[in-house]
Amino acid sequence: MTDGLNRRSFLTASAAAGLSPLAIGAMPRKPAGAGSPVIVASGNGFRYLDEAMEKLRQGTDPLDAAIELVAHVEADPNDRSVGYGGIPNEDGVVELDSAVMHGPTHGAGAVASIRDIMHPAAVARLVMQRTKHVLLVGEGAKRFALAHGFKEENLLTDEAREVWLRNKERQGTYWVPAPDDKVAAHIKQEADNLTTGTIHCSALDTHGDLGCVTTTSGWGMKIPGRVGDSPILGAGLYLDNAVGSCGSTGLGEINLLNCSCYLIIDEMRRGKHVKDALVASLKHIAEVTSRNPRYRGEDGKPNYGVTFYAVSKDGQYAGANMVGGARMAVHDGKEAKMVDCVPIFE
Ligand code: GLY
Repeated sequence: MTDGLNRRSFLTASAAAGLSPLAIGAMPRKPAGAGSPVIVASGNGFRYLDEAMEKLRQGTDPLDAAIELVAHVEADPNDRSVGYGGIPNEDGVVELDSAVMHGPTHGAGAVASIRDIMHPAAVARLVMQRTKHVLLVGEGAKRFALAHGFKEENLLTDEAREVWLRNKERQGTYWVPAPDDKVAAHIKQEADNLTTGTIHCSALDTHGDLGCVTTTSGWGMKIPGRVGDSPILGAGLYLDNAVGSCGSTGLGEINLLNCSCYLIIDEMRRGKHVKDALVASLKHIAEVTSRNPRYRGEDGKPNYGVTFYAVSKDGQYAGANMVGGARMAVHDGKEAKMVDCVPIFE
């Protein structure tokens, strides 16, 4: 605090002045350390890597840097898988899930099925800081956010509503589809290919401390109240400040069934290199999910998409995905780049 405000009065003043919700709950800054910082994220974080790296260099807490990076995507109406502009549930309501983990304190917070709040990751940080709980859901999560000065906002954009409407009309009953020439090609295309999307970001700061966040609007057209992996510690993200940090995007149910991110960090704790930990864990996940025909294609391979991003305490990083090609966004301290993930199945 440069202006002499203590932390408590700063937080109160931030909320009262209607400052960005990202200022509410920001962690104390440290002087920069001597280590080499690294950021890994899903591809939709690429554009914001340079800004986040600069913050890490200036001593911003790694969790704050990660939350501020994903906040850009939460506010982006064109990302249909996260925050504002996310594809809604089958009732046409955008419901968001997010969790954060803070390495130095092994602290965590999460919100699930929260409505009308654009920045669930920042709310998750406040759950960590300003409650004795870890996970708040639904109406309680929203009331908690409002109590801390977050604004209530309609997160359903016209384009996301059109994607929802087209799906709704397809379901039959009494809804009559719009003539094809009245529906923009990209809306048709999106309606035909509902994605799971999401953004994950893990940051390693100049002190070797880790922070991570995953935030999502989840499956488009999901059953209201459905919660995916993103707000579940060990499933959609996990870190151990002595080992590394990991997060995931893709079909959340797979990670709920396998505690996937915990599994990966545990492999790293037992001494595996990041890439080897990812490959071993994904092979295990493929093996157990193959027992369920829901998750197995006719060729016997996994029929779902899931991708993992991990960074170790000493700055090694890698990504891996179950089927086909995927890329991850990385800032290795020198440059921001897109890096191929290791595919388990071609
Ligand atoms: N991985 C995001 C979700 O399934 O909700």
